[in-house]
Amino acid sequence: MSARGTFIVIEGLDRSGKSTQAGIIHKKLAERFGDQRVKLIKFPDRTTPIGKMIDSYLRSQSDLDDQAIHLLFSANRWEVASSILSDLQNGITIVCDRYVYSGVAFSASKGLSFDWCVAPDVGLPSPDVVLFLDISPEAAKLRGGYGEERYEKEEMQRRVRENFKQLGKEQKTTKEESWVEIDAGKGLASVTEDVWTAVEKVMGQQAE
Ligand code: TYD
Ligand code: MG
Repeated sequence: MSARGTFIVIEGLDRSGKSTQAGIIHKKLAERFGDQRVKLIKFPDRTTPIGKMIDSYLRSQSDLDDQAIHLLFSANRWEVASSILSDLQNGITIVCDRYVYSGVAFSASKGLSFDWCVAPDVGLPSPDVVLFLDISPEAAKLRGGYGEERYEKEEMQRRVRENFKQLGKEQKTTKEESWVEIDAGKGLASVTEDVWTAVEKVMGQQAE
């Protein structure tokens, strides 16, 4: 493993299996490199004061303007930006469940411009790889637990998926290999295999 940790982001629609895959990668990397060398983080982090405002909004217990909630999601990342950087510098690999791509894809689906949405996240640590778990909104809807939170509606998820794909195209123009699309509609074992192949590839490239 390289001296610097690897920053791995997992993205996708609600119910695409991100948290399951993030947990599996974290466990496998911890087994291989030791607990101290890998950390699992997620956004939104609902435990901080800002995260509590986000949680209340997502559960429709409070209302906020689209711009205001967007900035809170971004601030929730900035709260831990320096700790992400220092962990990476200390050789700790970070597995991150959602990041700036969710920030833009969800807010832009409400009508805010891409450029406006991207701006507050500019300067945050850049991931080495984004694993985009792609699933159709129809298939996601059939999975358990869908529809409880504010954004878990098929029509919105459809727009979010388009936005993710657009972000993927843009990301690939800067660094082709940093965006990996994975078919998340397949069975768990098959998705896990594809995800792990991508993780090993990026970590291998870094170690070279
Ligand atoms: P989610 O990952 O589903 O959290 P949990 O695992 O706790 O249910 O995220 C909650 C919602 O927040 C999800 O619909 C995506 C949305 N979201 C944004 O709109 N902007 C962001 O910046 C982030 C990180 C998430
Ligand atoms: Mg959710």
